[in-house]
Amino acid sequence: MTEADLNAVADAEQRIHRFPWTRGNFADSLAAGHGGWLALEEGRMVGYAVTMQVVDEIHLLNISVLPELQRGGRGSALLLQLSGLTRNQAATRILLEVRDGNVAARSFYQRHGFDEIGRRRDYYQGHEGREDAIVMARDI
Ligand SMILES: CC(C)(COP(=O)(O)OP(=O)(O)OC[C@H]1O[C@@H](n2cnc3c(N)ncnc32)[C@H](O)[C@@H]1OP(=O)(O)O)[C@@H](O)C(=O)NCCC(=O)NCCS
Repeated sequence: MTEADLNAVADAEQRIHRFPWTRGNFADSLAAGHGGWLALEEGRMVGYAVTMQVVDEIHLLNISVLPELQRGGRGSALLLQLSGLTRNQAATRILLEVRDGNVAARSFYQRHGFDEIGRRRDYYQGHEGREDAIVMARDI
């Protein structure tokens, strides 16, 4: 992901998430040196991810697939690619936070071997008050 991709990414993000990152959030992430990754099919963006390395841990900050293409294996393929890349960076663990109510994403991560290792109370803004974050991790 580069600056040139940010309009398309931010548009997709609006369609995918109830509480989307802004274009500025993605730009800040790239400026901070985070990894930005696009999943392309015949040149068309079908998903993306943002990762941040902290010593030997990779934090998965965002992973998204276009709504009309979800449940077709693309998120799994993207996660597999990220795991391969992180292996090259001598990382030992992937860590992430997911909304308590995001049943689909929690199932997705469980399916890929992530365990729940903690909970951050009231971490996210929700439509009806705050929402907990579930912290999940997987060894690489
Ligand atoms: C989470 C996400 C990235 C998964 O990508 P995907 O391409 O839809 O997932 P896959 O097709 O690779 O799914 C693999 C497995 O994950 C689980 N899974 C995925 N979506 C699911 C859903 N809606 N409900 C239950 N389980 C689900 C299933 O076990 C699935 O395997 P199966 O289809 O054989 O049953 C995608 O659904 C998405 O973009 N969601 C919205 C954004 C989001 O919540 N991102 C994560 C938090 S930042």
